[in-house]
Amino acid sequence: MANVKFLSGEQIPLEMHKVRIVQKLTLPNLERRLEAITEAGNNTFLLKNKDVFLDMLTDSGVNAMSDRQQAAMLIADDSYAGSETFTRLENKVQEIFGMKLFLPTHQGRACENVISQTLVQPGSIVPMNYHFTTTKSHINLNGGQVVEAITDEGLQVTSTNPFKGNMDIDKLNSIIEKHGADKIAFVRMEAGTNLIGGQPFSLKNLAEVRNICDKNGLLLVLDASLLADNLYFIKTREQQCQDMSIREITLKLASLCDIIYFSARKLGCARGGGICTNNEEVFVKMRELIPLYEGFLTYGGMSVREMEAITVGLDETMDEDFINQGPTFIAFMVDELSKKGVPVVTPPGGLGCHINAMEFVDHIPQNEYPAGALAAALYIASGVRGMERGTMSEQRNPDGTEPLSNMELLRLAMPRRVFTLSQVKYAIDRIVWLHENRKLIEGLTWIEEPKILRFFFGRLKPVSNWQEKLAAKFRQDFGDSL
Ligand code: F0G
Repeated sequence: MANVKFLSGEQIPLEMHKVRIVQKLTLPNLERRLEAITEAGNNTFLLKNKDVFLDMLTDSGVNAMSDRQQAAMLIADDSYAGSETFTRLENKVQEIFGMKLFLPTHQGRACENVISQTLVQPGSIVPMNYHFTTTKSHINLNGGQVVEAITDEGLQVTSTNPFKGNMDIDKLNSIIEKHGADKIAFVRMEAGTNLIGGQPFSLKNLAEVRNICDKNGLLLVLDASLLADNLYFIKTREQQCQDMSIREITLKLASLCDIIYFSARKLGCARGGGICTNNEEVFVKMRELIPLYEGFLTYGGMSVREMEAITVGLDETMDEDFINQGPTFIAFMVDELSKKGVPVVTPPGGLGCHINAMEFVDHIPQNEYPAGALAAALYIASGVRGMERGTMSEQRNPDGTEPLSNMELLRLAMPRRVFTLSQVKYAIDRIVWLHENRKLIEGLTWIEEPKILRFFFGRLKPVSNWQEKLAAKFRQDFGDSL
């Protein structure tokens, strides 16, 4: 995004790229959308892409590649062991993070598997600013328990706090005091904290966490999957960092961590993952698991073409014109919706625009999944596919009780360089319509409920015939418009 002033004084995000490859989209009509959401068991993960107009499910593996990334894919060195492509990726990771040891994996959760198997034991505690779904599952699978220490404001939907992803240092200290440092497997910080609305932590906060880790002899692990947005927010919101380049901030941040892992489906705009560290002892232990679960040490489950794309993608992530694209589009959507009275997470974060379903549909009880119901309703009203990030995304306790999520969010992800502003405006228009008709939306109930990560492939049905009523209102207001 260029820093360009418009005559009208409006804040209009301006793309610093041109589109040279396009993919045709279709917008199925209302009748087909009603059928499709039923076929998908009211779970947007189960919709077929041919039925989706704007896919705002995730930014994972669906960011647009650049011409440089595509070009690099053509020169990939396809060898099982010792590939030049791997060396280029390893060198890029070393250059960007200043860490000398690197392990490739096929995606982010694979890093979590390797790290958890290496460091988590039955009874271990893992303090973190906030959990991510796959992270928590891997820690639990290894007998450990996640304890969150997010600042209180992190869980307040609307706020002016620029760093809602910060760790509360007092909470971290009391977790360590309560359980004892020897029970703690590691401390985890998540950049661009996903489940609370893509909210960043500050460099200052990370330094404070490092300090506590040093005092207690603990390892600090950074989940850098959403680091790009977090870097942008550090640069634009943290006074002391405004004169630092993105590269300088990244190196400083990395120097505070013992292990950094990332999903290259997000960071790097391709598909893959990796773990880096300067800690040889932990590296050697983690390395043993790579050939077992991922592949040989010079590809780790990734295709060489993807590795070339990640190498260039990581480099582009250090470009200030590139990393502000997601956050400025998200800020536009959040601001426009706020102006129209739609409850959204503020300040705008990274990853996507997050709608507060707890308030949007405050008549739906949490055990009827307000955010899931809103995701189904938005699909019916627009063909836009979002993702439930609330109670459905939680897992039942061993005794079968259901933990209610702190937040009920409908996430509308903004994959980088993918959507145009008019597409974003269409999504805003239909969300505003849905908000005006919100009382028509009711809850969902399970038809099939998987035990682990149920939100991925569980199936639900509406608690009443509310979807037909919503569709009738749509026909009344929009006639034969799609
Ligand atoms: N950590 C964070 C913070 C993530 O957001 C994700 C994935 C992962 C780890 C796991 O990485 O998908 O490559 O295995 N988030 C995706 C999302 C799924 O849509 O938010 P992965």
